[in-house]
Amino acid sequence: MPIDADTYRSTLGLWATGVTIITACAGDEIHGMTASDFAGVSLEPPLVMVCADKKANTLGVIEKGRNMCVNLLASGQDALSNKFASKKEEWTRFDGLECATARTGAPLIPGALASLDCEIVAMHEAGDHVIVIGQVEHVVQGEGDPLLYFAGSYRGLAEGAGS
Ligand SMILES: Cc1cc2nc3c(=O)[nH]c(=O)nc-3n(C[C@H](O)[C@H](O)[C@H](O)COP(=O)(O)O)c2cc1C
Repeated sequence: MPIDADTYRSTLGLWATGVTIITACAGDEIHGMTASDFAGVSLEPPLVMVCADKKANTLGVIEKGRNMCVNLLASGQDALSNKFASKKEEWTRFDGLECATARTGAPLIPGALASLDCEIVAMHEAGDHVIVIGQVEHVVQGEGDPLLYFAGSYRGLAEGAGS
């Protein structure tokens, strides 16, 4: 391997991202996890992608149900992000959340900046992850600023930065 794993991880951490919670349903089963490896892929047709660890339990539900809803988190939702990332008592992730149901049946995370409800059209293995491609069937837009993630910490937008 040309670089060591720690250097690789910390370097990827220098790529600032938003934060999403990916939800999915298969029959009565719902599940969801925090993910920042999300991107738009195509405008026509409207395709998005998420990169999920092969060990993520959410991946099994996505595969079974052939759906996912990508919820873009808003500033102030860092505790929710941590909850959906923690393996501790993961069955309590949806406790206390009043989730509406997206058209595919996946839960919509309340307070999200936007939710993109998708049918799965392809899954590609890539190393220890799977690239999940979803066709966006419906979107819901909320309001607010995004929750950002950089170098292992949550961040917010800084007014006037970048100008
Ligand atoms: C800010 C943040 C971003 C994350 N991004 C991803 C990601 O893009 N893909 C992934 O597989 N896991 C990602 N994770 C880790 C998962 O959320 C974590 O492994 C989770 O416990 C998986 O849940 P599950 O096994 O119940 O599906 C991220 C965690 C955090 C805190």
